[in-house]
Amino acid sequence: MRTSQPTTIYLSEYQVPAFLVDHVDLRFELFEDGARVHSVLDIRRNTEAGRDQAALELDGDSLTLERLQLDGRTLGEDEYDNQGERLVIARVPDQFQLTVVTWIEPQNNTRLEGLYKSSGMFCTQCEAEGFRCITYYPDRPDVMARFRTRVEADKHHYPVLLSNGNDVERGDLADGRHFVTWEDPFPKPCYLFALVAGDLTEKRDHYTTQSGRGIDLRMYVEPRNADKCDHAMDSLKRAMRWDEEVYGREYDLDIFMIVAVDDFNMGAMENKGLNIFNSSCVLASPDTATDVAFERIESIVAHEYFHNWSGNRVTCRDWFQLSLKEGFTVFRDSEFSSDMGSATVKRIEDATLLRTAQFAEDAGPMAHPVRPASYMEISNFYTLTIYEKGSEVVRMIRTLLGPELFRKGSDLYFERHDGQAVTTDDFVQAMEDASGRDLGQFRLWYEQAGTPELTVRDDYDAGRQVYSLTIEQRIPDTPGQRNKKPQHIPFGIGLLDSNGKDLSLRLSAGDHSHLTERVLELTGELQTFEFHGLAERPVPSLLRGFSAPVRVFYPWTRDQLMFLMSHDSDGFNRWDAGQRLAVDVISSLVGAPAEAEVEPRLLTAYRHLVSDTELDQALVAKMLQLPSEAYLIELTAEADVQAIHAARNRVLQEVADTLRDELVACYHRNHQSGDYTYNSSAIARRALANTALAWLLHINDEEGRELALRQFKDASHMTDQAGALRALVNSDFEADRDRVLADFFRQWREDPQVVEQWFSVQTASPRCGDLERVRALLEHEAFDWKNPNKVRAVIGAFAGQNLARFHAPDGSGYRFLAQQICRLDDSNPQIAARLVSPLTRWRKFAPQYRDGMKAALETVRDKAGLSRDVYEVVHKSLAEPA
Ligand code: PHE
Ligand code: ZN
Repeated sequence: MRTSQPTTIYLSEYQVPAFLVDHVDLRFELFEDGARVHSVLDIRRNTEAGRDQAALELDGDSLTLERLQLDGRTLGEDEYDNQGERLVIARVPDQFQLTVVTWIEPQNNTRLEGLYKSSGMFCTQCEAEGFRCITYYPDRPDVMARFRTRVEADKHHYPVLLSNGNDVERGDLADGRHFVTWEDPFPKPCYLFALVAGDLTEKRDHYTTQSGRGIDLRMYVEPRNADKCDHAMDSLKRAMRWDEEVYGREYDLDIFMIVAVDDFNMGAMENKGLNIFNSSCVLASPDTATDVAFERIESIVAHEYFHNWSGNRVTCRDWFQLSLKEGFTVFRDSEFSSDMGSATVKRIEDATLLRTAQFAEDAGPMAHPVRPASYMEISNFYTLTIYEKGSEVVRMIRTLLGPELFRKGSDLYFERHDGQAVTTDDFVQAMEDASGRDLGQFRLWYEQAGTPELTVRDDYDAGRQVYSLTIEQRIPDTPGQRNKKPQHIPFGIGLLDSNGKDLSLRLSAGDHSHLTERVLELTGELQTFEFHGLAERPVPSLLRGFSAPVRVFYPWTRDQLMFLMSHDSDGFNRWDAGQRLAVDVISSLVGAPAEAEVEPRLLTAYRHLVSDTELDQALVAKMLQLPSEAYLIELTAEADVQAIHAARNRVLQEVADTLRDELVACYHRNHQSGDYTYNSSAIARRALANTALAWLLHINDEEGRELALRQFKDASHMTDQAGALRALVNSDFEADRDRVLADFFRQWREDPQVVEQWFSVQTASPRCGDLERVRALLEHEAFDWKNPNKVRAVIGAFAGQNLARFHAPDGSGYRFLAQQICRLDDSNPQIAARLVSPLTRWRKFAPQYRDGMKAALETVRDKAGLSRDVYEVVHKSLAEPA
C-alpha cells in the first residue's frame, strides 16, 4: 500500500532518459501460484542525456526481487537501493547487461494492470505503466527496445502461448510443460508488450496487402465464443484496406493477432501485433449483439489496428503526449466509420458525445488541455479531452489544410518519425512543413483547456445588400488557467434564402464566387465578416458539420430553427436545428406549471419527421431522439435534475400522445421480420422501428405493448430483442417488464456480454432502476465485483445514465456511489476513479443536490489508504476553483 501522498508530475520537468535499452530478453515461467519473470536487458548510457554519472533508475510495482545481476555478477544489497516503486543502482558502466528475476502473483492481481488472470487465462495490460508490475524496467515510452519473449506453461491448461511479433521457436519441457518463443523485430516501448496464455480457440483468416504481402490474421477466443469472431475479422480486413487507401499505410509484421478477454479495464489495447480486447468490444453475433455493438466493434477493431502506425511505429515521447496517438487514432477510426456507414450520422454521434460529456469535462474540476501540463496518475488522463477533443483538433487541421495537404502532412509525419517517440508539437510541425501553413496560433488548442464560446451577432444592410456576421470568442477559465488567448477556429457556414436554398458567399463587392459553403478562420477576439450581393436577409447556418469543438450562441427564433430543420443542406446542422429547438422547448418547461403548453411547432416538426420517407432514414432516427438529460444539464447553469427530467418527460409524453398513430405506422413501415442483415439501411430501419416502439411504450400504449411483446418473442436477432426489452422496461407495464426480464436472463445467462446488457437496461431506466433494484443486482449471482464490465453495467449505468434516480433528492444515490467507490478502490483503483466522475461536477448543480454530492466526495476522500487514482480525482473535485 502507498504510504506517502501522491505527487504531481510536470511536463516542464521532462528529461531525456539517462539510459537506453537496446534489447530485452524475457522468460516467463507461468504457474498457478505465481509467475517468475527472467529479464535480461542490454543497457547503455544515453549520450544525448549528458549525464554520465547518473544512476540507473528502474520502475517497479508490487514485485518480489529474486535476483539482480550486472554483467553476470550478483549485486550485493549495498550496491542498489530498492525502495517502494524504484530500484536504483548508483554505479554502472556505460554499457552493460542487467539480469533481473522477479516473482509476481497474476492470480491475485485485481487491478488488471501488468500480468493477471482472466477466466483461467493469463494476459497482460501494460499501458500506461503496467510493465513495472511485471519486472523492473525504465517504464517510459521514450525507451524503445527490441523484445524476445519466451513463455513457459503447462501444456494441457495453456496450449496457446502468445507474445508480440513472430513465433520463432517452440517445444516441450519436463512435467507436461511447453514453451513458445516470440521475437518482435520492431523496437517498442514496454507499454506495447503483451503476453497471453490459455486454452483458446484459434480463428484464422488471411489478408494480402496492397504490395502483395500475405498476412496471417488470427483471433483467439474461449471455445464457447468461436462463433462470435466473424464480424471483428471482417472489420479488421476493412480497416487494413482503408488504411492503405486513405493513408498509404501497410501492415508490417507477418501475423496480426486479436485476443478477447472478459476482465479488462478499458475497451481494447493496441499491443504490437497482439491486440487484446475486452470481450464486449470484439465478440459479436447477430443473436447476441445489437447494431450499436456491431458498429462499436467495427470502430474499435479499426482503432486498435490503426495504432500500428499512429502509436506504435510512431509513439509518444512521454504521457503528456498521449493525444498524439489517441486523438489522431480516434480521428482515423471516426473517418473510417463514416466511410463505412452514414457520414452525417457518425458526425452527429461524435458531436453528441463531445458536447454532452467532453464539454462537461472541460468545464469541470478535472479540465485539462489536450496536452496536459501535469498529472498525478496518468490512468486518470485517458479522457474524452485526450481522445475526442484530440480527434477534433486533428480534424480542424485537416479542415484548414484541405485533404491533399493533410495527407502530405501525415506522410511526412510517418516518414520523418518512423521508429521514434515524439510530441504533439512534432505532429503539428510536420503538418506545417508539408503545407506551408502557419499553425502557430493553432497550437493553443493543445495548450489551453476549456471550450471556446462563440457569440454570433448579425446585421443586414438592405441598401448595400450586405449581410454581416460578427463573432466574438471567449475561452472560460479552467483550473490553473485564466485569461486565455483567442484560438484559431475554422468556422464552417452557409446562408439560406427564404426558399431554403443556399446562397453564394461573396466576401467582397468584387467577389463573384459561387461557393455556397465556406470555412471562416477565426483568430481574433472579435471579427466581422461581410457577405455581399444579398437581395434579402438570409438565415445563417453556423458551424456547419460541427467544424470546431466550440459552443455557439446565436439568438435563433423557433421559426428559424424549424426552417433550418427542414431546409439546411448540411445534414449535421439540420439535426442540430432540431436539437436546439427541442432544447429551447424543454428548457422553457423546466419548473413550469404542469398545464403549460408544449410548443405546437415542435409537434409539427416531429410529425413531419416520423412520416418522412424521403430523408436518409438514419438521419430521421437521430432527429427523433430528444436531447438527453445529460446534455440538458450540461446546458444549464444551476441544474435542477428533477425539474429537467420532468420537463423532458413532459415533451416526450406530449409528442408520443399527439403522434401516436404516426408512430404505429412508422413502426410497421420499418419493422422487418426475417434474418439479420448488416448494412446502413437495415440498421436505420431497425433504429426507427425501435425508436417508435420506445415512444409508444413511454406512454404505455396498449398496441405498443402488444407489438413489443411480439417483437421480443419473435426476434431473430439481438437488436430487436433488446429493443423490445428496453421499451418494455421503460414502461409502466410492470408485470410484462418483470416477465421479459426473467425470460431474457434465463435465455442468456451463459453469455456474459448479454448479461451485461440485461444489467444495464434495468439500472439505466428511470422507471425500473430504483436504488433498491440496483442494490439487489449487486447481489445477483451473475454480478462479479472483479469484472469491470459488470461494475460498469450496474453501478456505472445507474450513476451515469439514470440521472433522475441517481440524483434522488434524499442523497441516497450519492451515498450509494461513494460506498461502492470505496469498496472498489481496494481491488481496482482505475475503475474506482472512473466511477467518481458523476460526482465531480457537484458545483454545477442546484443547491439541493450540491451538498449531498460534496458530502459523498468527502466520504471517499476520508477513506484510509486511498489509491493515487481516486485521490487525484476527489481532491481536484473538492479543491476551491483557482
Ligand atoms: N490505448 C488503448 C486505446 O486504444 C486504451 C487503453 C489505455 C487500454 C490504457 C488499456 C489501458 O485507446
Ligand atoms: Zn487508442
